[in-house]
Amino acid sequence: MAQVKAGAPSSNFFLDGNFSPVAEERDASNMEVIGAIPDDLAGHFLRIGPNPVYVFSEEAYHTFDGDGMIHGIEIANGNARYRNRFVQNEGFRLEQERGDWIYKGMNSMMDPTPSRVPDGASAGKNVANTAFTFHNNTLYALHEASQPTVIELPGLETKGPTDFAGKLHHAFSAHPKVDPKTGEMMTYGYAFQSPFVTYSVIDATGRLVHTTPVTIPKPVFMHDFAVSSKYTLFLDFPITLDIERAISGGPALGFEPAHGSRIGVMPRYGADADVRWFDVKTGVVVHTANAWDEGDEVVLQASRSKTADIAGAGTTEGNNLADNQGQLYEWRVNLETGAVSERTLSETPCDFTRVNDTYACHPTRYVYAGVFNPERPFTFDGVLKFDNRSQATLVYQWGEQRFGGEAVFAPRLAAETEDDGYLISFVHDERVNQSECVILDAKNLEAGPVARIIMPFRVPYGFHSGWVASP
Ligand SMILES: [Fe+2]
Repeated sequence: MAQVKAGAPSSNFFLDGNFSPVAEERDASNMEVIGAIPDDLAGHFLRIGPNPVYVFSEEAYHTFDGDGMIHGIEIANGNARYRNRFVQNEGFRLEQERGDWIYKGMNSMMDPTPSRVPDGASAGKNVANTAFTFHNNTLYALHEASQPTVIELPGLETKGPTDFAGKLHHAFSAHPKVDPKTGEMMTYGYAFQSPFVTYSVIDATGRLVHTTPVTIPKPVFMHDFAVSSKYTLFLDFPITLDIERAISGGPALGFEPAHGSRIGVMPRYGADADVRWFDVKTGVVVHTANAWDEGDEVVLQASRSKTADIAGAGTTEGNNLADNQGQLYEWRVNLETGAVSERTLSETPCDFTRVNDTYACHPTRYVYAGVFNPERPFTFDGVLKFDNRSQATLVYQWGEQRFGGEAVFAPRLAAETEDDGYLISFVHDERVNQSECVILDAKNLEAGPVARIIMPFRVPYGFHSGWVASP
């Protein structure tokens, strides 16, 4: 039996310190607040991440495999209420019933121990631990190898995975894009089998209305993509998926620069043959910020690194962390001339790039991102705001031994401009083992937090955040 001891030290980086999971689901209100929660902010701040209960091997545990847990803060009238809940899909429930692991996880795929997956159960575990999307008044918790999981608000109960009335026949990215002007949601999934990528559009009423294969030469780890008002952009970048490499002792997901890097541009309702591929400088993109149309050009902004250690989640010995940490980067693809220009926008190492979601798929002036700690993998010292007009990068640091996660932009009620709102993130103070929810004024990061909600329970580091405004 391999039950993870919540809060206990571990030799596995992603089970140690504040990466260690928590065991209980809890509720809290009347929390201590330093400053004041703005009364022009109303909605749910949500953060999801891996929170493993049973693991096949503590040593081989990969952070992508942990059971999903949502930490939510409901904000209204200057007050906050906290809840955390497991995402309770089939795999989680089966392991709870057995009281032990059933699914081995990505780093143990080649282990000869027989599978414990019962007959009739899904061969893979939909951990729904990665990110959120909110579409057609529905909140989904996402895991890129799986179907999206419907989560109910305000209580964060799991309703379960959906296949969009039987029409979804591919994995569903953790980073679909919702065009706020049309209400459409664009998504895709990648797979080991040709055509390796499949793309779909779901209309504003939640009907899946378009699916097409997108053929690429070999399977790659395509964690994110981008959508402008006219085009969908696919990133065929060289973190390749190679089972033969895994069988011979290498990583299943590895950096293969000879594969090159290409951006595929397809009309929103295009087909495989409509995709135009543009070669770009080789690198790695894990997360995009936004894309938009500008004259003959389609503009893409993302965090781009020289390489990445996906298999080791940045902890592999001898791994050069600086080369794995992205910087804000821009590509301009001219669809008339076929020319591509590309450049670094900001030198600050960062990822978890976000924009104000109410401007997604359309021109955005500001990008927000988590600022990497230069020495420790997957650790964020602060948040940045990049201004496309002035080209300036503004950084707010969380403070000495204080580390955050993805900061999400939450518009102020009756917001008038793109940055008229707040940036919200959980922050953990490692000196005193104290978690906080920090709210910054997005127009005035330098002033420091407008509110720090002191969490009565530890909130482990996790993956992505979301904001669902109250209707
Ligand atoms: Fe992601």
